[in-house]
Amino acid sequence: MVIPAETRIRVLFSAEDIAARNREIAAAVAALQPVNLLVAPVLKGSFMFAADLLRAMHAEGLAPQVEFLQLSSYGAGTASSGQVTMVRDLESSVAGRDVLLVDDILESGRTLAYAKDLLVARGARTVRCCVLLEKPAPRAVSVTPDFVGFSCPDVFVVGYGMDVAHSCRELPYVGVIES
Ligand code: IMP
Ligand code: MG
Repeated sequence: MVIPAETRIRVLFSAEDIAARNREIAAAVAALQPVNLLVAPVLKGSFMFAADLLRAMHAEGLAPQVEFLQLSSYGAGTASSGQVTMVRDLESSVAGRDVLLVDDILESGRTLAYAKDLLVARGARTVRCCVLLEKPAPRAVSVTPDFVGFSCPDVFVVGYGMDVAHSCRELPYVGVIES
């Protein structure tokens, strides 16, 4: 699937709104005074959010380490397969650490629940979840995010790291494809 350059996208969350929200989330994380903080973005969709959030965290005086994990629950389409698989694991131990999982969207809850359960089982001191967007419940798996950028309508969104069939990740905003 190739997305034509003239595709029209309706902006749902602008770059400016996202930047302002990132600063608020970073301040809220800093207020918790995390110990030996590890920020763990879930690739691929969270890469842009995580990069901006980390810079906002730096501005708040935080000095987290960062490691990525990659999980997959979608194929190239827009419907979740329901099965979460580990594509790439963290390299360091999380034992005794405060971990902040960062993901793009909470939808069914499967991705975050999988990641959180895994890191808790590995002995993390705390595992908190930060998502840019939270879609409406019901969830297939119950998981409550600790930090949420925005409530998102129940539509398929793209941009700011999120893709449709590997396209549109580069957009600096979150939007909906109109045509
Ligand atoms: P969950 O496991 O159903 O909560 O799925 C969350 C994951 O599905 C997110 O991390 C995204 O990668 C993907 N996803 C869910 N909704 C969308 C969407 O509207 N656009 C792009 N990716 C999505
Ligand atoms: Mg994802």
